[in-house]
Amino acid sequence: MTATEPATRTAAEPTGGGGPVPVDASTLVLGIETSCDETAAALVMGGDDVVSNVVSTQIDLHADFGGVVPEVASRAHLDALNPVIARAIVEGGVEESRIDAIACTVGPGLVGALLVGVSAAKALALAWDKPFVGVNHMEAHLYAASLEDPTLEFPLVVLLVSGGHTMLVEMRDHGRYRLLGQTIDDAAGEAFDKVARFLDLGYPGGPAIDHASMLGDPEAIAFPRAMMDSGLDFSFSGLKTAVVNHVRAHDDVADADVAASFQAAVVDVLVTKARRAARQVGATGIVLGGGVAANSSLREEILTACEEDGIQGFLPSREMCTDNAAMIAAAGWHRLRSDGPSPLDIGATPNLKLPLID
Ligand code: KG4
Ligand code: ZN
Repeated sequence: MTATEPATRTAAEPTGGGGPVPVDASTLVLGIETSCDETAAALVMGGDDVVSNVVSTQIDLHADFGGVVPEVASRAHLDALNPVIARAIVEGGVEESRIDAIACTVGPGLVGALLVGVSAAKALALAWDKPFVGVNHMEAHLYAASLEDPTLEFPLVVLLVSGGHTMLVEMRDHGRYRLLGQTIDDAAGEAFDKVARFLDLGYPGGPAIDHASMLGDPEAIAFPRAMMDSGLDFSFSGLKTAVVNHVRAHDDVADADVAASFQAAVVDVLVTKARRAARQVGATGIVLGGGVAANSSLREEILTACEEDGIQGFLPSREMCTDNAAMIAAAGWHRLRSDGPSPLDIGATPNLKLPLID
């Protein structure tokens, strides 16, 4: 990302161990992510050069339960994390001693799951005598697009749509965020997951609905678009209820039509509001982030809207949209550069908020 690139700086008082580290284009950060149901580790150099990126998903473990089971997730992270970190280092083709800092998600997320990554990251920081950097998972999603397109120019509007959050954020510069709007009830991903579970389409719900929609008619059912005409907040719980009511009242309705019409309603609202937000702040472009940003229809519609409005549309690849550690290492590099290392006594914070400027 461009804008006010600070000069190379030296991070003071590393608390993970070791002396001050230069934070520049050659700084190699090991990222670790265990906030939910993906165990991930990655090496990223200079904040945007992905050297390795390993993700071990727990989807199969949770599928029978139709959602993430926190205790199962924590245990699976414990089993997977060391091999995943080892693989990221081997695939990166570097010696451990070449790693300059360890960045790890400290929140938001499931507390037991977070603790597995945070404990491992701190232990590595101490054992290797390197700085530790605590990363906000939401901030990392904002950085995912910059890994594939480091030329992004501020101000940007980021539509952050994941399983737990739906937000429109103005990114004025690195680390300078303003919340423009957010959901007042369900997150977009949560709505996808709940509707997919109701239709018995499988888990996780987002990809299942995305897939089913390809065979359906998005105009078959006119589902409500809540709070569409004004403002930048969202509401998806009424839409979920509308789907349930419609299916109960029409036994013969095709799942594919319900999925496609539901998806069209979500995408319509997301795109309309992202566009409104971009106009409001004079953004150079709209960036997508979070798992729902992997949705085919959302990706297509946001690009069309950006083209019509003469701004850029930045879509991270699907693997960068969903949880991964490359985005953690990228956000960690920026935090290390702006704030220096984190103290080793910071813990896992399940409801950590995005740091906002106002
Ligand atoms: O960002 P993420 O990987 O994890 C969280 O931090 O929450 O997002 C997961 C969410 C889930 O709700 C999942 O159903 C949704 O992203 N998702 C999708 C798609 N792929 C994942 N939603 C719609 N379409 C998709 N293709
Ligand atoms: Zn996420």
